[in-house]
Amino acid sequence: MNKISKKYKTIDLSNSSSTKNGYEDFMLKEIFEQPKAITNTVNKYILLNEKCNFPDFNLPKDILLNVKEIYIVACGTAMHAGLASKNTIEKLCKIPTYIEIASEFRYSDPIINNNTLCIFISQSGETADTISALKLAKEKGCTTIAITNVIGSSITREADFSFYTYAGPEIAVASTKAYICQIALICSFAIYLAQVLESTDFSILEDLNKELLDLPKKIEMVLEKKERIRDITKQCYLEKNLFFLGRGIDYATCLEGSLKLKEISYIHSEAYAGGELKHGPIALIEDGIYVVGILTDCKLASKTISNLQEVITRGAKTFVISNQKLPNNTFDFVFYIPNSSTFLSPILSVIPLQLFAYYISKQKGLDVDKPRNLAKSVTVE
Ligand code: M6R
Repeated sequence: MNKISKKYKTIDLSNSSSTKNGYEDFMLKEIFEQPKAITNTVNKYILLNEKCNFPDFNLPKDILLNVKEIYIVACGTAMHAGLASKNTIEKLCKIPTYIEIASEFRYSDPIINNNTLCIFISQSGETADTISALKLAKEKGCTTIAITNVIGSSITREADFSFYTYAGPEIAVASTKAYICQIALICSFAIYLAQVLESTDFSILEDLNKELLDLPKKIEMVLEKKERIRDITKQCYLEKNLFFLGRGIDYATCLEGSLKLKEISYIHSEAYAGGELKHGPIALIEDGIYVVGILTDCKLASKTISNLQEVITRGAKTFVISNQKLPNNTFDFVFYIPNSSTFLSPILSVIPLQLFAYYISKQKGLDVDKPRNLAKSVTVE
């Protein structure tokens, strides 16, 4: 019999991370842990840099300088974190970035090679499709990076490099704090990569880095207004159908808000890029239907406002989340979030949507933490 010697790894977990700690549900607790989760994640990579207050991921420069394209591959909410980050990487690093659903990517015979950097995002680090997609990328010679929240998870053992989000254990099936930490981590990574590649002015990177460090305060400001979201949900928790509309980076937030709502409230909802409305979905807009609009990108806000006006004309009720000055008396409900760089707005705009899904689920008397038919990690195909 061969004796195997294994290394022990001690994981630092406080008792409060596995209890509700006074909250009614794990999901609510995890939503409220978000300021701390972001601080822990962002600071970790800044601390790695001994020279200055800037993120460092310590990757070999020769690999980074040869990257011609980036693929972000993941499932569900983790894939939405990729969508919310695409713009940040492309604008700062000037590298084309593609977001792929892991279960599609693994069977698509992708055209990737040793100039491709593949980033795999997975909260659990155990998602079967994401792990298979990672193995495929390795076979094709790509450099692989895993982003996960679970130390020592399967995905970290497969990838060339692993970076952790330090969100703390996420117990509720619906992912919240891990999602915003994934976006913050990729933003830190893009700042680091842009610095290595010298693809963006240092002063711009410096400002964005400062904004990242300021995020926890802004998240607190959103959380303080949770009652307002609860009030809004009292009027729509019995709806059967709901729409989310947004453009650009706000479209990723719409997809995530719609997924959260489906998962824990069992309300059917659809997320559309505003410009697609006229190409079909507008046929479904009828008197009294609720449409949630996200407006955080000043370049696209007027376009989304026009889309919302089109649904209002057809009798829709509108709930808008924005950091822009909006026309008076146009929408039924408006929830303002603090202003931020467009790269970071998905972190702030998703929080009201997490609370929206949470309060609807509570008002329907559902099990928020363990929704039907869902598992926390999908370890089979
Ligand atoms: O553990 P992972 O991040 O790989 O999980 C991927 C999806 O299964 C997961 O994000 C799922 O969509 C969540 N339940 C969303 O809240």
